[in-house]
Amino acid sequence: MSRTRIGVLVSGKGSNLVALAEAAQEPGFPGEIALVLCNRRDAGAVDVASRFGVPCTVLPLSDFNGDTVLRDADMVTRLRQAGVTLVVCAGYNRVLGDEFLAAFPGAIINVHPSLLPAFGGGMDAVEQALAAGVKVSGCTVHLLAPGDTDSGPIILQAAVPVEDGDSADDLRQRIHEQEWRLVPQAVSLWCEGRLRISADHVAIVEPGVARA
Ligand code: GRF
Repeated sequence: MSRTRIGVLVSGKGSNLVALAEAAQEPGFPGEIALVLCNRRDAGAVDVASRFGVPCTVLPLSDFNGDTVLRDADMVTRLRQAGVTLVVCAGYNRVLGDEFLAAFPGAIINVHPSLLPAFGGGMDAVEQALAAGVKVSGCTVHLLAPGDTDSGPIILQAAVPVEDGDSADDLRQRIHEQEWRLVPQAVSLWCEGRLRISADHVAIVEPGVARA
């Protein structure tokens, strides 16, 4: 069976990219990373891509005179040229425009470091959780649709405890460990065609169940 070609958008350290790249090295994994697109030259994720031998292109906004619509369009072109059918935002720190989202309907997965819908819509979800004094936080892997940032049908979530005296880095690390498990799992489910979406709710079906 041919493997789904995955495009990964990144901006940061790239630890979720590591998790996905490691999973994709497993013989039975149903997807392969075809292209990594990064918006920051100094992102650790660029080194991760090179370590795993995955093609990576850096597209800083300055190359597009600050025009995010132009950059999004360029990303769509590159992803299509690479034969990508699933896009994974693995720590991409920019909101994607509706044209980009519409180019991959039902085929963009995002990971967010909170239990959505709590603490969505920002880059500081971990700090927000600590400030709110919640006792449980976690991560969410979900699909992105036009008009969404940190919303859209939820594929998987995992909870982690917030311990007394946690720093943002302590909590972030605990959340990251769950993201590294959930991102490859959600990608695998998508590639195997095991997600059924109805009224913005995702059901996970057994392998081999025909689409309704
Ligand atoms: C993750 O916590 C993810 O939830 C958020 O950005 C972070 C990326 O971390 N969207 P990394 O670059 O994968 O290490």
